Amino acid sequence: MAYNLLKGKKGIIFGALNENSIAWKVALKAYEEGAQFVLTNTPVALRMGELDELGKACNAPIIPADATSYEDIERLITESMKLLGGKVDFILHSIGMSPNVRKGLSYDDLNYAYFQKTLDISAISFHKIMQVSRKLDAINPWGSVVALSYVAAQRTLYGYNDMADAKALLESIARSFGYIYGRDKKVRVNTISQSPTMTTAGSGVRGFDNLVDFSERTSPLGNATAEECADYCITLFSDLTRKVTMQNLFHDGGFSSMGMSYRAMTQYSKSFDCEANEEIPTEW
Ligand SMILES: NC(=O)c1ccc[n+]([C@@H]2O[C@H](COP(=O)([O-])OP(=O)(O)OC[C@H]3O[C@@H](n4cnc5c(N)ncnc54)[C@H](O)[C@@H]3O)[C@@H](O)[C@H]2O)c1
Repeated sequence: MAYNLLKGKKGIIFGALNENSIAWKVALKAYEEGAQFVLTNTPVALRMGELDELGKACNAPIIPADATSYEDIERLITESMKLLGGKVDFILHSIGMSPNVRKGLSYDDLNYAYFQKTLDISAISFHKIMQVSRKLDAINPWGSVVALSYVAAQRTLYGYNDMADAKALLESIARSFGYIYGRDKKVRVNTISQSPTMTTAGSGVRGFDNLVDFSERTSPLGNATAEECADYCITLFSDLTRKVTMQNLFHDGGFSSMGMSYRAMTQYSKSFDCEANEEIPTEW
């Protein structure tokens, strides 16, 4: 159901790769809610061809840009303002990639050139997007910038590797830039810390299926889906959240406040002997 929450608003959405991408769902919802926006991704991602389909569905132009390139971002934002006929009201940063994860290198055996790339792609690009936007004065007052994060920024989760460091930096950039952008231009900056979600980036993490299962069993509300994440993004782009800024907002069914749940404990105890199993009450 649409509420016209983004009627008249303009934006830029980074990171839709295919229909599983969180950014893909955000684009569909933003369109449904009345927004006009530009879609962007790397030239390599665009060559895969799937983004054209989304562009058509949302009546959105597509501009290639590597989010690690300052020049690409300048060109993207300048062209977007021309195409959209003015400043934007929202930007979604839905970008993440670790060459160390891709190559299966463990956290105590990182390749440092790859590590720099992880940080550049997954976190510093967020700073670059805001630095360029501010210099070009590209975002309207009360505009909203959102990036997607993960609880591995605060807690160590097996397999998340150097992406944990990238997410910690991403969340810190949201606070540091959020202060300046809020003070000077009334622009808000937040990160959403999303549940593990089956996407191309997500499924690259070692043991991802088990991580999804573990968080599902641990979270009282269960894992948040990509569609639900898109709904949350829309609220943050809307005028209903104008005083929310510099926050890392957990969108994870309660996972980040849990230690151990009954469902997770039951599963864990399956590896113990039968006697131990019998001692667990059937309902808590
Ligand atoms: N999937 C999950 O479990 C999960 C959980 C929490 C947060 N997140 C975050 O959500 C965001 C979106 O990821 P997703 O899960 O939708 O996966 P995805 O693979 O669909 O999206 C990642 C996107 O990053 C883009 N990208 C990579 N390098 C880039 C560059 N140099 N310039 C511009 N774009 C680049 C890719 O082309 C892709 O579109 C990421 O920040 C990810 O870390 C994902």
